[in-house]
Amino acid sequence: MILVTGGAGYIGSHTLVELLQADHEVVVLDNLSNSSEESLRRVMEITGRRLEFVKADLLDVDALEQVFNSYPIDSVIHFAGKKAVGESVAEPLLYYENNVCGTLNLLKAMRKHQVKRMVFSSSATVYGDPVSVPIQETAALQPTNPYGRTKLMIEQMLIDLKGSWENFSVAILRYFNPIGAHTSGRIGEDPAGIPNNLLPFVAQVAVGKREKLSVFGDDYATVDGTGVRDYIHVVDLAKGHLLALGKTGEENLLGIYNLGTGNGYSVLQIVHAFEEASDSKVPYEIVERRPGDIAVCYADSGRASKELGFAVEKGLTEMCQDTWRWQKNNPEGYGV
Ligand code: NAD
Ligand code: UD1
Repeated sequence: MILVTGGAGYIGSHTLVELLQADHEVVVLDNLSNSSEESLRRVMEITGRRLEFVKADLLDVDALEQVFNSYPIDSVIHFAGKKAVGESVAEPLLYYENNVCGTLNLLKAMRKHQVKRMVFSSSATVYGDPVSVPIQETAALQPTNPYGRTKLMIEQMLIDLKGSWENFSVAILRYFNPIGAHTSGRIGEDPAGIPNNLLPFVAQVAVGKREKLSVFGDDYATVDGTGVRDYIHVVDLAKGHLLALGKTGEENLLGIYNLGTGNGYSVLQIVHAFEEASDSKVPYEIVERRPGDIAVCYADSGRASKELGFAVEKGLTEMCQDTWRWQKNNPEGYGV
């Protein structure tokens, strides 16, 4: 049985669909601090399969112990964590406690119960401002904010643990920019409050919930001056977790993999693609650069392709169409 921490969240819920469709048995642990149980209900509706759910916090050691005692867990996919960069700057201790201490508790429980396989959600944010693109896994790690530093600390913790526990098998996945939603339009990204990330904001403008997009800077050295990122469909990303999990079962792994497409798109290219996919207008204005933003970031995904057999199937049009379907059918996210 697979323990999926943070399974009620955006990437977790999409991964659950793939896991259940591949006949895996799953128990989800989530404190619902940034998600709703409705996503799990919809995962079961899409797949016609059941999953177990425990509402608990990774900081609650007793609850964690109980989960490991109650279910025959043989591997863990670890999504649970806080992820808002701005909030991490304002509340660094909250981030170190939740992400680093939460993961420490999880690893101690895994060690105690001899659960040896793990897939961890890291982020391209560990590279900070890249020296060159496309970014390889061997690039310098220099995160520029507390959120990114929690991810790097956890990566280091996993590498040290592997050094002392030979049979531990771990895949560290560095995601680039996940967007899109399940094609059913039943699950998707449901940010609380004003979205920080581009796609949820664009989708809320297109649906009329917000007046216009602020484009953060048009004077970067890019195709049209706006920031370039490697957007990856969340379903492709979800499938990458099954490949990584499989790899942790084949051998005693310490694998670090970029999960991106290798393509970069600018903010304005995204806006135009979204307008086309949604047949709606996305009014925007150019404003100052967002502090801490980088110009260009995209992956060299060669290692994941070679070692995991990872390949993306969905292009930008599908990413925008699927985001739009989710946004249109669920204007209030899971709140409706
Ligand atoms: P999300 O917020 O939608 O999901 C995270 C889930 O973890 C939520 O359901 C939340 O309630 C839960 N959670 C948080 N702290 C917890 C705790 N202490 N105990 C139990 N549950 C807890 O985020 P997401 O976009 O699905 O991201 C999943 C993971 O991927 C995170 O670790 C995130 O840092 C990482 N990541 C996300 C992105 C992205 O753009 N979405 C990019 C790179 C990496
Ligand atoms: C952000 C996080 C990063 C995290 C990633 C994926 C910051 C500084 N970085 O990065 O740590 O790994 O999300 O979750 O927050 N943009 C606009 N207007 C908007 C929103 C975004 O122009 O309202 C632009 C940005 O300047 C950027 C691009 O759109 O060029 C993508 O932004 P975003 O979705 O926030 O992702 P990242 O900047 O890659």
